[in-house]
Amino acid sequence: MAKDFDTMEDSNRSGNTSIHQVSDPSKRISLQLLAGLSLLAQTAWAKAQNAAASASSRLNFQALSPSLEDFVQVPPGYRFNVLAAWGEPVGIAGNMPAYRADASNTAEEQAAQMGMHHDGLVFFPLNGSSTHGVIMTNHEYTDDGLLHSDGIENWTAEKVKKSQNAHGLSAYEARLTERGWQMVRPSRYARRITLDTEFAVGGPAAGHRMMQTAADPSGKRIKGTLNNCASSMTPWGTYLSGEENWSFYFAAGEAISPHHKRWGLRAKSFYQWEAHDERFDAAKHPNEPNRFGWIVEVDPMDPLSTPIKRTAIGRGAHEGAWVTQSGDGRAVVYSGEDARFEYIYKFISRDKIAPGGAAANRTLLDHGTLYVARFDADGTGRWLPLVHGSGPLTAANGFADQAEVLIKARQASDALGATKMDRPEWLTIDRDNGWVYCTLTNNTNRGQDKHPSVDAANPRANNTMGHIIRWRDENAFAGDTFVWNHLLLAGDPANEREQARGNIQGDFFGCPDGLSIGPGGLLWIQTDVHSGQLNQGEFKRIGNNQMLVCDTTTGQVKRFLTGPNMCEITGVSFTPDGTSLFINIQHPGETPTDRGDPKYPNQFSSWPDHIDDNRPRSATVAIRKIDGGVIGW
Ligand code: FEO
Ligand code: CA
Ligand code: CA
Ligand code: CA
Repeated sequence: MAKDFDTMEDSNRSGNTSIHQVSDPSKRISLQLLAGLSLLAQTAWAKAQNAAASASSRLNFQALSPSLEDFVQVPPGYRFNVLAAWGEPVGIAGNMPAYRADASNTAEEQAAQMGMHHDGLVFFPLNGSSTHGVIMTNHEYTDDGLLHSDGIENWTAEKVKKSQNAHGLSAYEARLTERGWQMVRPSRYARRITLDTEFAVGGPAAGHRMMQTAADPSGKRIKGTLNNCASSMTPWGTYLSGEENWSFYFAAGEAISPHHKRWGLRAKSFYQWEAHDERFDAAKHPNEPNRFGWIVEVDPMDPLSTPIKRTAIGRGAHEGAWVTQSGDGRAVVYSGEDARFEYIYKFISRDKIAPGGAAANRTLLDHGTLYVARFDADGTGRWLPLVHGSGPLTAANGFADQAEVLIKARQASDALGATKMDRPEWLTIDRDNGWVYCTLTNNTNRGQDKHPSVDAANPRANNTMGHIIRWRDENAFAGDTFVWNHLLLAGDPANEREQARGNIQGDFFGCPDGLSIGPGGLLWIQTDVHSGQLNQGEFKRIGNNQMLVCDTTTGQVKRFLTGPNMCEITGVSFTPDGTSLFINIQHPGETPTDRGDPKYPNQFSSWPDHIDDNRPRSATVAIRKIDGGVIGW
């Protein structure tokens, strides 16, 4: 979510960053990192350097220039088609209401249509196919100026319901045809998950007193999910999605508790649902916010399955979560919180991943250990366990039990002295060499008055451009120590503002967000620059948001795709054979006012319909090479 961050205050006031402060971190890291690299890492690095010399077919496409056009552009030799835009029926048999361009679809109709503002997505192949599958996608938030034909005027229960029904997740079936990728409708896989869908709760916080409400005294059944941002596929074939900026949905009233304050709740909510749905009035229902901020797991192949909130992974403004397998077969889950000065986490399951798919791993993510990252200035780091009773995580310090440690994961990480990061967005794992990458999208408060100063891992004050950090855990993802460095600092190396200068080799960009290791180990980077954060010259040179590819063996970056005006590029997923790539275009024409302006729904974009007075729509874009080859090679 790009909008609103520039005005949002960070809520982390703990004092634990200064221990990482160094005088000139950018110069110290490379030397100290080499000294800190394990022998294994040094061997892998040397191997990678050798591989680079022979990898002439990497990034084998013509790079695009930055663009300020209201179109999607891809390199020569590639083509794309648009599918599954906001408002298209997802394909539920007998319930496929057509999209109406004047936004007059009812709340009930919206519950059977693609939601708004697509974010993360995953392609799940059917029977291993690369031409037929189920796509599950997140609908992060609503722009209510666009969602309702008369915008936010006359705020009604029907509008709140429509906004809630435009949130959540969609699953739809898709097939490659002569007209590119198309939705298959009706489909037995078609599903909408909204604020009305019942979720179960798994892990230590299930049933805890802080999870109990008047509507759910059990603390184990939660209605819905919201602000779902990034997503991923688990090794056992399920979908993981993060509930990111859930705090914007709750009105805490004037007397905000220290707990709610630490999580960024405010007196009034941003979405104003509480006017017609009392559970979002946190003054009346103070435990309801504790039921959001979790990683949710869904089985995309069973539309009747109950999705589950996985509390063992910890609560946060999670962008998403990404899973790999440790050397001894356990699930290792990395996640971060996209908020200024928040943290990066790792969870290791108690049990091994079982063969047999979703059914065989139904409780795998409910048992294990959660850790938070500390990045030290010498290029090493440590995973600090968030375990009740260890160190400061005791009842005397406000953590009565493990559930409370997880519900108050931010407070626990503050107490442990974890490193406060510059808004961790997506992560991706290179299973071939063990590097885990994380985008740190930006943090304009870094180094500012009354805010934490720079540290080795977050080396730029007023960080408008962001950077990409990577680490390599000891013991095949399972160790509690790691080595780390920066893949790159984003921004134009020749930028007039010194603090915004990057060190990218090749095509420059700002504010990395989406991130994925694709076919052959290439690193795909998607951007979410908020134009208001740049000066005019920077905006013109960087252009609209875009997707680039990095050859991590050389550091070379090439621009692969440019998006329409005021959009964000997100949601990267490939077919198993690497010949189709799916992304989402989020919020084309993002309106400059907080909640959208109904008078100017298409002031900045009319993508993808390009019809006068049409509302811009978030949509999925499917990309293919004309010769049918592997994307990026
Ligand atoms: Fe939903 Fe942090 O982007
Ligand atoms: Ca966004
Ligand atoms: Ca994001
Ligand atoms: Ca972002």
